[in-house]
Order: sequence, then C-alpha cells, then structure tokens
Amino acid sequence: MTGIDAAKIGRQVSRRLADAAAARRFDPAGVGWRLGRSTGPGRAELWVPYDRTAGVYGPQGSGKTLDLLTPALLGAPGAALVTLTKPDDLLLTIDARAEGGRPVAVLDPFGVTPGMPELVWDPVAGCVDSMLAERRAKAFTAGTVRGAVAGGIADDAARFYAAEGAKVLQAFFHAAALTGRTLHDVLQWVADPQHATAPEEILRAHPHAAPFWDGLLRGALHGDERTAGNTATTVQQAMSLFFQQPIRDRCVPGPGRPATDIAALIRQGGTVYLLGREDPYASAAPLMTAIAEHVLDTALGLAVTAPHGRLCPSFLACLDELPSTAPLPTLRTRFANERALGLSFIYAAQTWRQLVICYGEDEARALFGLTNNIVVFGGGKDGLFYRELSELIGTTRVTRTTYSIGRGGMGRSTAGEDVPILRPEEIRQLPERRALLVSENARPLIAALTRCIDGKSGQALLAAQDAARARVAAGRRQTASAAERTAQALARTQQIAPPPDRSPFSSTDRRPGQ
Ligand SMILES: Nc1ncnc2c1ncn2[C@@H]1O[C@H](COP(=O)(O)OP(=O)(O)OP(=O)(O)O)[C@@H](O)[C@H]1O
Ligand SMILES: [Mg+2]
Repeated sequence: MTGIDAAKIGRQVSRRLADAAAARRFDPAGVGWRLGRSTGPGRAELWVPYDRTAGVYGPQGSGKTLDLLTPALLGAPGAALVTLTKPDDLLLTIDARAEGGRPVAVLDPFGVTPGMPELVWDPVAGCVDSMLAERRAKAFTAGTVRGAVAGGIADDAARFYAAEGAKVLQAFFHAAALTGRTLHDVLQWVADPQHATAPEEILRAHPHAAPFWDGLLRGALHGDERTAGNTATTVQQAMSLFFQQPIRDRCVPGPGRPATDIAALIRQGGTVYLLGREDPYASAAPLMTAIAEHVLDTALGLAVTAPHGRLCPSFLACLDELPSTAPLPTLRTRFANERALGLSFIYAAQTWRQLVICYGEDEARALFGLTNNIVVFGGGKDGLFYRELSELIGTTRVTRTTYSIGRGGMGRSTAGEDVPILRPEEIRQLPERRALLVSENARPLIAALTRCIDGKSGQALLAAQDAARARVAAGRRQTASAAERTAQALARTQQIAPPPDRSPFSSTDRRPGQ
C-alpha cells in the first residue's frame, strides 16, 4: 500500500466515524413529532416530520388531545399556536411551554382561566392596509358560518351572508384605521350598520382609502332590504363577543395594557393559546378565527424574511377541535403552501360531519385530501366515514383453496378473493391508545400511542396542571363575584337615578287612578 492510499483510506475511515457520530447525535425531535409506535412486526417508531400535515379524527374522550396533540405540542422546539376549548388541556401544558423563559399568551375571552398571561389584540391595528382589512373581516365572518347552520345541514345562505358581511366589516375596519378611530367606533357602526354614514364618507373622501370600497359598502347595506338586513345581522354576529364589555376589556388593548407583540413572541419560541368554548349563545369562533389568521400570517411573514426562507425551528399550529374553535378558511391553502416554509399543522375534529358543517362538503374533502397523515380513533358512530376509510385503505388478495371429494376422487381448486384490509366495524372497534394511521403512499397501519399523562413524565405534567389550577383559583378569587357586581351596580344606580317617587317608571306613577 502506498503512502497516498493509506492517507485516502484514513480520510474515508475518519469521515465514516464522523458520519456515525452525527447519526448518533441525530435527534428526530428536531425535525418532527412522535406519533407512536407501529403494532406490526418490528414495532417501528413513528415520527411525523414538521413539513407534513396531520388530521386527527376521534369521538369525545378517544385520546386526540392527550395521545397526539399535546405530545406534539410539548415536543415542538419552536413557537406554537394552540386552539382548544378545555381549560384543563391548557393548564396541562402551559408551564412546560413556558420553560426556559419562553413567552406564553392566552386569549381567554370568557375569563375561564384568570391569572394566566393574557393575549391582548387590537383588531383595527394595521387595517390601513386594505388587504389586511379584507383578510381580517373575512376571518371574522367565516367564524359565523357554523353558528348559522340549521338542522345540521350546512347552509349555503350562511356562506353568502358571511361574504356580504365581510364587505361591510372590511370597510368599517379600513375606515376606522384610516382616521385613527378605535374598535369602540367600529362597534358603534356595527350596532346600526345601515344608519352609520361616517364609514362611507371616509372611504369616499380619504385619499388613502381603497378605491370603490364606499360603493361596496353601500351595495352590501342598501340593496334588497331583506338581504341587507341579513348582512347586517351577520356583521353583528361576527363582532358579537365585543359587545360584552368584560370580554372587550379582556381582549383588546387599554390603558396600561399594550397589545401583545406576536412577532416577538414567535421569535422567542413562545406559545399563543386561544381558548374558545362550544356555546351556541356565545361562539368565540369569529374572534378566534381572526386572531389565529393573524398569528399564522405573522409567522408566515417571519418565515419569508428569515435568512433560510423558512422558520427554523418549525412553528407548530396545533388546532384542537378545529370546527368549533377556529375554522380557518385559509387552512387548505396554508397546508399546500406553508409547510415548506417551516409552518407545521396538526388539527383534530370529533367527526367528519363537523368538518363538513363548517367547511362545506367540497372544501372539507379537499382539506382531508391534502392532509398527509390521517389518524383515526375507534369508537365513533359515523359508519359512512369508516366505510370510506375502509375503501381508501383498499383490499388484499386472499387465496382460498377448496378441497372436494367426489366419485372421481379428490379435487382441489384455488381461487383468489379481494377482501378489505380493515372492515369499517374493525376501525370502529379499535381499542384505546390505538389508532389507524393512513399516511401518504405508505401502507396503512395501526399505531400504538403514548398518552402524555402516563408514566413519570405524565405525573410531572399532572402536578404542573394542579399548580396551574391553583393559580387560576387564586386569580378567580380576585375577580368580583356576581353578588358583588350586583351590589356595585345597585349602588351606582342610586347615585345616578332620581329618587323613586320622582321616576316616571316608579310603581307610584303607574298606580291605577292616578
Ligand atoms: N387527568 C386525567 N387522568 C386520567 N385520565 C384522564 C385525565 N384526563 C383525561 N383523561 C382520559 O383520557 C382520555 C383521553 O382524553 P382526551 O382529552 O385526549 O380525549 P379527546 O379525544 O381529546 O376528547 P375531546 O374530543 O372531548 O377533547 C379520556 O378518556 C379521558 O377520560
Ligand atoms: Mg380533546
């Protein structure tokens, strides 16, 4: 062997050793989230890369949150957006996500978790930009579609009025931002849109106003009387949460309460929690959808201006209970465009029908089709969905050999038969902590999942949840009870109202014969 050969081999060996060391150092948690383990031969570890989307379907209590979304969130090294409806799910992860001084902000319109760091947001901010005003208005009104569903059937009319309402709301946001007005002024216009003349005048006269928006506004509010009436109602529905003073005070900036710097929060690997609730009387969906879009747009803005043209580490959007929290109209396009920019998406829904109700059949199917990894729990009652999945998974060829004995002696015949790999009822009967995984062009498999509250790390999480609960209880003690508020209101009434005997509404005035 020549000296040159020895040096070459030496270099190759050291390169291989370096590669082996790098392989040993490789941490999959940096590039994806752990889904579970396959149950087939080999029991392979299953990881979902951050540039692949995932959709989780399972009935109440099946484990969507604790087996998949929470582990993914806890393992995400970068910033995250989380939508949820259960305060317990928030309290389970908030301390872990705040570790290392990472910022956390919670939008809690209903004040369920007092004492948690609040997300403060001004919906009018930035609406000088007409594109932003339009996006924001559309996000607000998109959240009304589900609330307008009648008889469990998605109402096309609701979608029409959401679009009409967006024209009005975008004009209001834009007009307010152009003239330094605030959300208070917007609400004044929203309370009686047809008689609000200021926005149209501003849009007509202001040199920076988007051209023709005054016409759009007039057309939406002063056309056919019934249509205009429904449009006005939709606008009011979209902004309804803000008509509650406590909710408005909690969510929007005020004296000593500056708006949360979302871009800074994302840069520091922080977490935005949007805590909604399923409530037919007070849906938080319009507000949550608008804020979720704003957070995602901010992350996207950071991604495109980042040195590598993508967010690194990835940003995780963990959209639990998607149909009832923030049914983002842009989700499908975001799936297609943004996963390559370091924005990762995982969503959960209890049933397929819920998605159809808020997105419509075509859009829901497109969303389903664009989701790289579909995870389905058993225990549901939607036979049609399970049947479709069974068909999607396909069949396998089974060879059957039949033996017969007759007068001519013994005979044997072989025939092939295609049988479903998984029958619909087998999907429904999947046990707890198991889920069907349909992943891109891979073979379907049953995944064994790890519940995040199991084991030692689970105990630590539950202890952190208890501590967070205690903080919430302390925060709640500081907020006035209903009885205290009633007493305060009555005291104020006595200060401002005339004595009862002089009041035109006092019972003495209405006594018959007087
Ligand atoms: N602290 C806890 N201790 C023990 N079990 C729990 C605890 N919290 C939840 N569970 C159980 O874990 C299971 C999975 O709960 P998980 O919240 O993940 O369900 P889910 O599919 O997200 O349901 P939902 O649609 O209602 O949000 C449920 O059966 C629930 O009863
Ligand atoms: Mg859940």
